[in-house]
Parts: sequence; structure tokens; C-alpha cells
Amino acid sequence: MSEPKQMAQQPASRGRHRDPMVTKLWELQDKLKSTGATDEIQKTSDDALDLFFKREHYCEDHTSPASPELQQINQMTLIHPWDDLHEQGKTILNLRPGMMSGFLEGQFLQFLVSMSNAKRVLELGMYTGYSALACAEALPDDGEVITCELDPYLETLVKEYFYKSVHGRKISIRIGPALETINKLADDKQSFDIIFLDANKDQYWEYYQVIMDRGLLAPRGTIVVDNALFQGQVYCETKDKMGEGMKAFNENLSRDTRVKTVLVPIRDGVRLIRRIEDMLAKGQAD
Ligand SMILES: C[S@@+](CC[C@H](N)C(=O)[O-])C[C@H]1O[C@@H](n2cnc3c(N)ncnc32)[C@H](O)[C@@H]1O
Repeated sequence: MSEPKQMAQQPASRGRHRDPMVTKLWELQDKLKSTGATDEIQKTSDDALDLFFKREHYCEDHTSPASPELQQINQMTLIHPWDDLHEQGKTILNLRPGMMSGFLEGQFLQFLVSMSNAKRVLELGMYTGYSALACAEALPDDGEVITCELDPYLETLVKEYFYKSVHGRKISIRIGPALETINKLADDKQSFDIIFLDANKDQYWEYYQVIMDRGLLAPRGTIVVDNALFQGQVYCETKDKMGEGMKAFNENLSRDTRVKTVLVPIRDGVRLIRRIEDMLAKGQAD
């Protein structure tokens, strides 16, 4: 029997979905009910909403299962008492389960790491370690993931889960503001084949400049930017500093003539970036 997969759940509460289209369809459903629209019209709006979740489930159902260790991190993240911890002053930020990349994006990251024959991965923004462990699982035995995280609470929490995996020893955690950490890594002349940006959206452009200008991206390396769609704020109205930061990052990046980029609409949007010369066939760059 195949291993159970981590299916996307229909959200229990209908606040704001990361895809603004879903939020709008929820609003429409409520309006149709309250204005007494015919059953047929209400059903059509229910069906439209179902199509979104069906597509998400279909993608998950046709993706290889996550390892048991990743599934454990996923479960722990969903039930951890984040609000209480923040109220008690144990976490710096108000951390939420929705911050985790999760199953589909985790598997996608594993493909990128494996396809690029990466040996060294740098992550900005570890949270509960889902993406760090996903990358570590796809690395060779002598591979390494350095993951930067602001919140010391997470280091203690996550280490226990990394120990449970044979791949956990490939991961080292650096606590502190990611911008400081990556500058130190650049001082030490370190470079990485895959760099996953998933920390403070407001600082993405600063992270990117350090990565590109201080040699952190190895030759033929790839930058993977999470939340490139940022809950639709980049193509609708921006609602907060994070949305503004993400939108500015996307626009600045599109003007950078050194690189090629593609924005993939997986989860909250993933933008891939490579130097132009690394995208050309061998010999073309000369
Ligand atoms: C979206 S979560 C990362 C999710 C994780 N990569 C995953 O896939 O499960 C963002 C993380 O970045 C951390 N963070 C926020 N600002 C930061 C900063 N300035 N430096 C380092 N980490 C930061 C937060 O504490 C949080 O854990």
C-alpha cells in the first residue's frame, strides 16, 4: 500500500485565502445566499470554488509522497500552539502554520536540488524546517544546507525533528537577522548552488543584492524566491509592507539585465532566477 500523502485541506475557517480569487468566491457565495439567489446560481458558484480545491488535490495526489520525517514536521507545525507562545513572549514574530512551504512546494524544491546536482543550499527563513529538510533529503551525503532564522525558539524546536532524519546532519542553523548572516557568509567566501529566499519579504531586494554582488551564488547556481505572488498583492492592491516589498522586488528584478527569471504559480508563487550566461548552451556565452 502506498504511503498516505499530505492532502491540501479545505480551510476550516474562511478568512483570507492566499489566492485572492478564492477569497472573492467565498464572498460571492455569501452574497448569493444572503440575496436569495436561485439554487442553480448558488450551485454554480459552489462548483467554481470546488474546482480550485480539486485542482490542488489532484496535483498533490499525483506527486510522490513526502518522507515520514517531513510529514511529522507538517503535523507538528499545524498543531503547535503558536498564538500562546507569541502571547507569552516566547517567539519574536507571530508565527503561523501558513508560513510553511509544505508538501507540493517541498517536493518541487527537491526536484530543483536534484536536477541541478546541487551540493550546497542556502535558505533564508527556516520556520519549522520543512523546506530545509526537503532540500537536505535531495542532497548527496556530503551536501550541506545552511538555513538562516531570526527566531531562537525555532532552533530548539526544529533540532529534535532534524535529529530524527538521517539527512538532518546535513543542515546547520544560523540564528540572527538573515541579512547579517548572509553578509558573514560572503565575508567567509562561501557560495551556494541553490539559494531559497523565504525570510522577511520586505528585505528581499537587499538579500538579492548581497547574493548577486558578494559572490554567494555559485557559477550555474539558481535563486528560488518564495511568495512571489504574495497573496495576490503584487498584481492587485498592496495591503502591507510585505506586499509592497514583494512587489518592489519583482519589479526591480524584472529590470535586472544580468539574469533570466520565470515566475511559477505554485502555491503563493515561486520565482526562479539564473544568470543569463548560465542559461545559454555551452559555447554560446563565449
Ligand atoms: C515563511 S517562513 C519560512 C518557511 C520555511 N522556509 C518553510 O518552507 O517551511 C519565514 C521565516 O523567516 C523568519 N524571518 C523573518 N524575518 C527574518 C529575518 N530578518 N531574518 C531571518 N529570518 C527571518 C521567520 O521567523 C519565519 O520563521
